[in-house]
Amino acid sequence: MGCPYLSSQSLQPPLSCPHKPSTAFKPLYATLNCPNSTQPWLKSVNLNGVVARPGTENDYAAVRVAIEKIIPNESYDDGSIGPVLLRLAWHASGTYDQKTQTGGSNGSTMRYPLEAQDEANRGLEHARKFLEPIKFQFPWITYADLWTLAGVVALKFCGGPSAPWSPGRKDYEDALNVPPNGRLPDGALGAQHFRDIFYRMGFNDQEIVALCGAHNMGRCHPDRSGWDGPWVPNPTTFSNTYFKLLLNEDWHKKELGNGLFQFMDEDEEIMMLPIEMTLLEDKSFRPWVEVYAKDKELFFKDFAAAFGKLIELGVRRDKNGIAMVNYINKTKI
Ligand code: HEM
Repeated sequence: MGCPYLSSQSLQPPLSCPHKPSTAFKPLYATLNCPNSTQPWLKSVNLNGVVARPGTENDYAAVRVAIEKIIPNESYDDGSIGPVLLRLAWHASGTYDQKTQTGGSNGSTMRYPLEAQDEANRGLEHARKFLEPIKFQFPWITYADLWTLAGVVALKFCGGPSAPWSPGRKDYEDALNVPPNGRLPDGALGAQHFRDIFYRMGFNDQEIVALCGAHNMGRCHPDRSGWDGPWVPNPTTFSNTYFKLLLNEDWHKKELGNGLFQFMDEDEEIMMLPIEMTLLEDKSFRPWVEVYAKDKELFFKDFAAAFGKLIELGVRRDKNGIAMVNYINKTKI
């Protein structure tokens, strides 16, 4: 059964309602303004004058510019959606398991409820929603490419390095390849957890420390992770301040009203997660914290390389650079 509401809409291209009985996934933008939507936040996407731009196929530079335009946002958090876009790219990719070659950024599997509702992904609906008008403008780009590109653009826009990015990811058409919950890190755990999660993706200790420098951006939200506050005083600018503060502040442990623990500086203005304190204690992690605190240029270079590797996880390309569907449904996960 079609959705009478959507068929009367003037959205381009003409869209069918995703709520007809079908297991096939329909693009999220198809649910804009659909009163049957099971994703209420999508109903409020405001296209606000945004128009589809036919004839722009493969013009990724135009997509980059459109993303840059929406990053400053006075009414969101610290005035920028850059941090949450960076986190979307990371969580879309960080489900990768090298052994089974499952998860990762190909497929944009976070469109499916199992992954979207993973506790670790709380708050990322904001990032996905911010990107909907861009998807509407450039319907030819896949969500998997858009989410990873948005992370790269946000990083650069906020003063960080240029990370490598290539298009060609697919959006899987069914939920068969959605990785199980629990593959993303838990900030309450210790150094072994860091290694369990990041070695599984194929990273080493140096890359783990470099990637943690992403917490130069953004903040914890009590209604999302339950932790509270930014890691640095200026959380919309990418730099190596995170490492300097981690080394030099006098951190004390604090219990929050919800029972979670976090570490606070003396003035209780900035925070660290319990797992991040192990970067100071672990004899293999700490030297990299010290190096990156001193050498911003090296940190930028190493972060760009590690982030580029992260967003490429799960993307096996054919000779034309087009990603192939992972063989996840041949492996039991
Ligand atoms: C052990 C590793 C990691 C843990 C435990 C962790 C945990 C967290 C938590 C708890 C939050 C706060 C979420 C919220 O309440 O809104 C967060 C935010 C964030 N994380 Fe991580 N993270 C890790 C690694 C990374 C990596 C590798 C990246 C990127 C390369 C990253 C990028 C971000 C960003 C940009 C934010 C800010 C989001 C916002 O302001 O909305 N994190 N992370």
